[in-house]
Formats: sequence, structure tokens, C-alpha cells
Amino acid sequence: MTSASSFSGLHKVGVSERRGAVERHVGLTAGAMQEALQEGGLDLQTADKLIENVVGTYALPLAVGVHMVLNGEARVVPMVVEEPSVVAAASAACKMAGKGGGFTAEADAPVMIAQVQLDEVSDAVRARASIEQHADELSRMADEAMPGMVARGGGMRGVEVRDLGGGMVAVHLLVDCRDAMGANIVNTVAETVGPRIAELAGATLGLRILSNLADHRKVRVRCTIPASALASADWPGEEVAAAVERASRFAEADPYRAATHNKGIMNGIDPVVIATGNDWRAVEAGAHAYAARTGRYEPLATWRVARGSDGVVLEGGLELPMALGIVGGTLGQHRAAKMALRVCGARSAAELGMLAASMGLASNLAALRALSTEGIQRGHMSLHARSVALAAGAIGDEVERVAAELARARRVHRAEAERVLRRLRGGA
Ligand code: MEV
Repeated sequence: MTSASSFSGLHKVGVSERRGAVERHVGLTAGAMQEALQEGGLDLQTADKLIENVVGTYALPLAVGVHMVLNGEARVVPMVVEEPSVVAAASAACKMAGKGGGFTAEADAPVMIAQVQLDEVSDAVRARASIEQHADELSRMADEAMPGMVARGGGMRGVEVRDLGGGMVAVHLLVDCRDAMGANIVNTVAETVGPRIAELAGATLGLRILSNLADHRKVRVRCTIPASALASADWPGEEVAAAVERASRFAEADPYRAATHNKGIMNGIDPVVIATGNDWRAVEAGAHAYAARTGRYEPLATWRVARGSDGVVLEGGLELPMALGIVGGTLGQHRAAKMALRVCGARSAAELGMLAASMGLASNLAALRALSTEGIQRGHMSLHARSVALAAGAIGDEVERVAAELARARRVHRAEAERVLRRLRGGA
């Protein structure tokens, strides 16, 4: 594999050159991306089979995040997102993190929770004892309901009983889903084993469904960045590091800020989840539920300044549930999602989770660095200017020329773009 730095300047070349660079990096044949990405990777006939009442497909930009080093390996990160500057900012942050060796990450075993709701439990202590005594039988039943998963090394990993009070008990069946996200298998297990659990507890059977608070399937990412790597033209690195820590402490102190801080993290995660055909609502639900697990909504990532052997460093860490799959679901049918998986080279669902989370931490760093120093608008300005130029009717190289003028004059609005465009085209 080529190194992370070999993508420097990727934003300056055209789309087909970019595709070529990615193909060479990941060892795809020339033209493979063009073929896979036709019609956005999803033809109408296939789309019509995926969901109901289809009337078309809906395109979003697919980009690559670059300069990512995860556990010592250079990675290209596919990202589907509509928001300008997310990809550029996260890639820039990956470059900074790379100066400290990149991101190190680890993932729990891919264990999902199947919930079985029990109502009208007259004696929760007895119900618990009865369920726990029959744990082996329940495990056998569950494994019989998912022979394919067991053959791939997954299967039941345990039973937990939670007394919710008022005669309600939640039973958690822990299911190792290997490289699948696991929603279907987990729901099948809950529906298969649920009636027997209710019988053992002498209870009325309620819902049988997975929990999106997948807190047995977490990912942890860390990075240690030399302060010098954070410097900008106007800001010394040590000041930036201190400013990022202050921004982190703001999110730690205030749920209103934590929500936006976490949105910035999801700016890096969701695009990877979407690009690879995964269920981003599930990941979002898990992330925010996990952020509120103490009863108070908190930031998923935090930053601290520390003293390293070679000077001041900024240390960042992120932990969240990450229920992703690299097999099953939409993936099998979506050419672009399959291509995205090849591009990032994830060999397991756990690895994909670590990659997405690393992009989340990068995205958070980019946002905090910009917000806590020069503010976010300056960086956004030139990208926003491109959309305004397009909206004003600029085409081809007019787009960059109009955008550059708008950004320079700090007058990024449609009327100004139309005026610049008229002038460029030789009008008034
Ligand atoms: C915008 O999409 C995301 C930010 O608001 C995140 C943050 O405030 O940390 C910039």
C-alpha cells in the first residue's frame, strides 16, 4: 500500500484522476470505480427491490477522506456526505494526527443485544433465578436458530436479566454477530427464544427486538498529536492544543455544547457508515444513547494537553458503540457500497468500526481546532462560495474563479456571484 501522504494534492486534480489514484492505492483495476459507481452504484431495478414504493434513486457525493493512519496502516476512507468541508477538514486532521503516528483503535467482540420484554412478572427475583438456571437451554435454542452464524464463529454469548421495576423485566440475549451488523439475526433469536423465557419467568411476553444501545460492541480510538502539528499561520501549536482542551471541557460541562460537539464527531462517522451501506440511524441512536448513559448527556470524545517526551502533545480519545457490518443487509446489492468497502480495505466489521470512529475523532479535532482559534466560518467560506457560484450558474472553471473572488471579497452571496459571473463572461 502507498503511504497516507501519497494523496497530497488530491483535491486539486479532476474526478477521474482521483479515481485513478484511489484505484492504484487499493490495487483495483483501472476503471473499476467508474464501473461500480455508475448510476450512483444503484440501478433503479435494484432500488425497487430494496424498499417499497420506489420512484427513483437519490444521489449524494461520494468522496475519499485521506491521510488516515489507523493502527499503523494507511487507509483511504470512503465518505458520503452533503456538507461542504467535512471531508477536507477531517482529512486535514488525519494529517495532523499522522504526525503522532495516527490513530490507535480497538474494538470489542461484535456482540449485539437481543431484548425480550417481560410484563406482569410477579416475582422478579424468582424470574431471574429461573432464567439464569436455564441459560444453557436458552443458548442452545438461540444457536439452533442461527446455524450459519454459529458456523462462522458467532452465536450466543450469554443472558442478562434486568429488573426494570413495576413487574417489568428486560432479558438480554447477547449474540456474537461476527461481520454482520446483526439486526436480522438478533431479532430472529429474540423471537425464537422469547416465548420460552416468558414461560420460565411466568410472565407476559412483550417486545422482542435488538437494542441499538449496543454497548457490548464498542470501539475505542486514541491519538497523541505533537502540538507543533496543530499550529497555523496565526496560532502557535501549544496555544491551539490548549484551546482544543478548553473546547473539550466546555462540552464536558454543558449538554448543549456536548450535542454539537457530538454532531461534529458524527460528521466523520456517518459518511463512512452510509458509504459502506450500513444503517446510520442505528449508529446515531447508539452513539447518543451511550453519550447519555450516566443520566447526563456527555461528549463522546475528549481532549487533553499533556507533556510528551519531545514536548507538548494533545491527546484525544473517543469511545462509542459501533454496530456495523461488512456482509449482509444492503451491502450485497449496492455496487457503490461494495466498492467503498474495497476502497477502505476493512477486513472485518470491527475494523470498519475502528475506521469510522477514527474519522469521527478526526472530524471532532478539525471542528474544535477551527472553532477555538479562528472560528469555523473562514474555512467554510471558500467551500460555501463554490456552492453559491454553482447556484449562480457558473460552469466548468468559472466555478473556482467565481468562488475565489467571493471568498477574497468576503461577499459570499448569490447576487455578488451573478455579478462576478457576468463580468467574467465579458458582460457588465
Ligand atoms: C458542523 O457540521 C459541526 C460543528 O458544529 C461541530 C462542533 O461545533 O464541534 C462545527
